[in-house]
Amino acid sequence: MSAASGTLPAAPVIAIDGPSASGKGTVAAAVAARLRWAVLDSGALYRVVGLVATRRGIDLADGEALATLVGELDIAFANGAVRVNDKDESAAIRAPAVAAPASRVGAVPAVREALLVVQRRFRRPPGLVADGRDMGTVVFADAELKVFLTASAEARALRRQKQLGRASAQDFNGLLAAMRRRDERDRDRSVAPLTAAPDAVVIDSTTMPAAAVVDQVLTLAGRKGLRGAASAPATRARRTPARASSC
Ligand code: C5P
Repeated sequence: MSAASGTLPAAPVIAIDGPSASGKGTVAAAVAARLRWAVLDSGALYRVVGLVATRRGIDLADGEALATLVGELDIAFANGAVRVNDKDESAAIRAPAVAAPASRVGAVPAVREALLVVQRRFRRPPGLVADGRDMGTVVFADAELKVFLTASAEARALRRQKQLGRASAQDFNGLLAAMRRRDERDRDRSVAPLTAAPDAVVIDSTTMPAAAVVDQVLTLAGRKGLRGAASAPATRARRTPARASSC
């Protein structure tokens, strides 16, 4: 798109993908805050669809019914809250029980297609930091910077356990098993599987604090000429309570 054709060039995007509990939500929020860009937590959209479909008794493999459902949902992010048809569903979508339905509807091509448009609407100046599984491969395949954030399954399960505030070994093993099942489904699905884009920078955060990952992403962004809307004060990466219980 060019000025000559009368349309504005697309706003820049930083895509941050990775498996569950790899820290991408925390990092995306911190990077967006530093740049004063918008942030898209695409997983929240799949969680909303999984939650509402379950409540309405919709078959989680019925593409047609699920795509119709997406069309009926008005999903808005405001001040850290996720509102669905004007109701605050922030806590409900983060319930551990919603992770599996979210992952199941995420494997349905019609759902991904319907959510494509919804996600692309978030791309506005001065820029967008988008986190998910297919930001750099599908939704924003032309993103200026793509990061694929990984960490060992054990490190990710441990982080999730800390977020959930539980300490028993059984909880840890249960979390680890659930996380592996979800990762497997995300990697093996036929459409938009979880994978690093060929041009993504892979960061293994197993032994890195989130703040160091944020700094690395900001350095990469700076090298690409991606700058903030205005200089924002340095903030430590912190996961917001609204995301904390996802698994
Ligand atoms: O990121 P989060 O863990 O909240 O995502 C919940 C589920 O939504 C994931 O397990 C995945 O199956 C699905 N998802 C997806 N594509 C995205 C983001 C999330 O399929 N871009």
